[in-house]
Amino acid sequence: NRDPFGVPAEFKSRTPAYSAMIERLEFLRSNVLGDRPLTLAEKILYSHIAAPEEQGAIERGETYLKLNPDRVAMQDASAQMAMLQFMTCGLPSSAVPASIHCDHLIVGNKGADQDLVAAMATNKEVFDFLQSCAEKYGIQFWGPGSGIIHQIVLENFSVPGLMMLGTDSHTPNAGGLGAIAIGVGGADAVDGLTGTPWELKAPKVLGVKLTGNLSGWSSPKDVITYLTGKLSVRGGTGYIIEYFGEGVESLSCTGMATICNMGAEMGATTSTFPFTESMHRYLEATRRGPIADAAKAVNQQHRFLQADANAEYDQVIEINLSTLEPHINGPFTPDLSTPVSQFGQATRDNKWPATISAGLIGSCTNSSYQDMTRVAHLVKQAKEAGVEPKIPFFITPGSEQIRATMERDGLTKTFNEAGATVLANACGPCIGQWDRNGAFDGEANSIFTSFNRNFRARNDGNPLTLNFLTSPDIVTAMIYSGDANFNPLTDSIKSDTTGQDFKFQPPVGKELPEGFELGRSEFYPAAVDPATNPSVQIAVSPESDRLQLLEPFEAFDQKELDLSVLLKVEGKCTTDHISAAGAWLKYKGHLENISYNTLIGAQNKETGEVNQAIDFDGSEHTIPELMTKWKQEGKPWVVVAEHNYGEGSAREHAALSPRFLGGKLLLVKSFARIHETNLKKQGVLPLTFANEADYNLIEACDRLQTMDLLDMLQKAGNNGGEVKLLLTKRKDGSQHTIIAKHTMSKDQVDFFNAGSAINYIGNEKRK
Ligand code: F3S
Repeated sequence: NRDPFGVPAEFKSRTPAYSAMIERLEFLRSNVLGDRPLTLAEKILYSHIAAPEEQGAIERGETYLKLNPDRVAMQDASAQMAMLQFMTCGLPSSAVPASIHCDHLIVGNKGADQDLVAAMATNKEVFDFLQSCAEKYGIQFWGPGSGIIHQIVLENFSVPGLMMLGTDSHTPNAGGLGAIAIGVGGADAVDGLTGTPWELKAPKVLGVKLTGNLSGWSSPKDVITYLTGKLSVRGGTGYIIEYFGEGVESLSCTGMATICNMGAEMGATTSTFPFTESMHRYLEATRRGPIADAAKAVNQQHRFLQADANAEYDQVIEINLSTLEPHINGPFTPDLSTPVSQFGQATRDNKWPATISAGLIGSCTNSSYQDMTRVAHLVKQAKEAGVEPKIPFFITPGSEQIRATMERDGLTKTFNEAGATVLANACGPCIGQWDRNGAFDGEANSIFTSFNRNFRARNDGNPLTLNFLTSPDIVTAMIYSGDANFNPLTDSIKSDTTGQDFKFQPPVGKELPEGFELGRSEFYPAAVDPATNPSVQIAVSPESDRLQLLEPFEAFDQKELDLSVLLKVEGKCTTDHISAAGAWLKYKGHLENISYNTLIGAQNKETGEVNQAIDFDGSEHTIPELMTKWKQEGKPWVVVAEHNYGEGSAREHAALSPRFLGGKLLLVKSFARIHETNLKKQGVLPLTFANEADYNLIEACDRLQTMDLLDMLQKAGNNGGEVKLLLTKRKDGSQHTIIAKHTMSKDQVDFFNAGSAINYIGNEKRK
């Protein structure tokens, strides 16, 4: 009962236990929910409630749910810390099916083969560590070159009705197959791996009604680039985005995955789609026909994989696919959305560099067979007309299966003939792992990508690279013009050989190939038995600068906090600002070393400088330097910041490092959901201003004390509350009371008291 590469069936997709899920949901309908119609998101979430008989009334946006996820997936950068934390719990194996994917640590430069060899050499220690953890704890290991986590999950594990956790913010990609897949930090993944119910505040549900049909240049990417512009990077916070309406039926499964993937850009908990025929086709094409049939049957009989008729959404947005124009989003924020027809004008108005320096397609967002065949159609048109690419062109296939199928079907040949560089099946330029040739360092330049995120310096490390996010189709057309003023829907370009005007015809692709090619067997997980292998040794050298065993954080001493203000951050502060990626990725398994990147991208409100903090004696330091100094001096600290603090990824180092360096409290105008949870899991108290204007009162080196934290910790229910803070100004000794709000649940109070969630889980499991 193994697949062609010897992987046991237990490690592949499983048909969800639909009958048990329906039973659980019916119990909740009878006892808790009443007869109100449910959204699809609610059906999947509530049917994963760990103890339905203990569940009280559920109010969306208010009630904490304890859920049993079906599966956990981890990428190599975040898996290191997840595994290091899991190890401290002392359990013999993972409680649920889980997988590790080596995709983030591969630098893109010369092309797949050479880059992979280089990555294997540079990261051997880390890959070996992850592989030994996987073997020891019964986790499936997808080695370097096998593909990007979200593509592999879609091809192998996501199924309608599944609920999974993934240690990457674009885990919602699996919603393209009707799953509820949520991006989390490693500590949350440990909940799944240890079988500890995972806590989530019941999200509100934002319904997106799709009408009409996509055609011509418009693609699924435009649904999400448009929606991100409409809702903003904070608009999805606290929501699951659920798509419905007749327009859904016209979308491919991989197109829906693209849409769900980028829901993360709006801060949404996740995104999902109801069961469609295209999901059935995709499951069949990926060798999961029985699951496709089971999903279809359960949906026909029980309407289980779609919303109930008249389900109520907290908000509804309607998008007519028939009139949707391609959009281009950026620079520096994914919600700055411009229709392609207005992009030239926007470029001129904003003085964005009009000469494009590179075009990149692929990544977890857009590397489906459909994407690649549409791009190939454009490339062939250009070739026939004698038009040459004007700028470097890079392609990252999402998986070995996609790469091999592209090769078999001649797509790779088409791309190679156009001078494209096909990079490894990995994240590469999408996560700063781009060893970019050319003199772009420190120079303003524009790149067009089919990626999902465009924060400063995210791709090539150059803060002056403007990354414009759009569909692979528009990226490809731009590669042939090299000019941001070009609108491929209306404009022509001159043929390099004939001098005649050439206008692209709208791209046409194929939803699915005639069977996927599996590719090279070495890129598939080794056959491992579900029974764990306790004899496997996990080696972490004390001399290593890449890996470091974790020391538990100290438990809370049950005294009111007495803190010094280390820094007041101005403006956007994403997880990239708090815990930079790029070259720092190599220290993900070494908390001490990676902590030297803490907040190095943050702007100091008082000095206007990036990565600058001022000590009591007026001396200037980098932010991590001052944190380290204050830690050594025994001065616990607080950082103050503005809105949507921690926006972006699930990067838990953005919480771990401040905790490691002596941070006790983050006081901000608002938090991004995953980051706020990550802080709570690591024993850092996240508070928001009740009155935002109080942000203006605070300056660096002021003293901030909690006045009733102990009382709050005693009384915390599950609906949040307030904490009173006393601010003592350093300059004049004046004192001010600041009211802050918290969202701590009872469980999160336990984590805080124990010092971290992992301490708490470990203590409980050892009892
Ligand atoms: Fe990788 Fe970029 Fe996706 S980093 S997981 S390809 S968002």
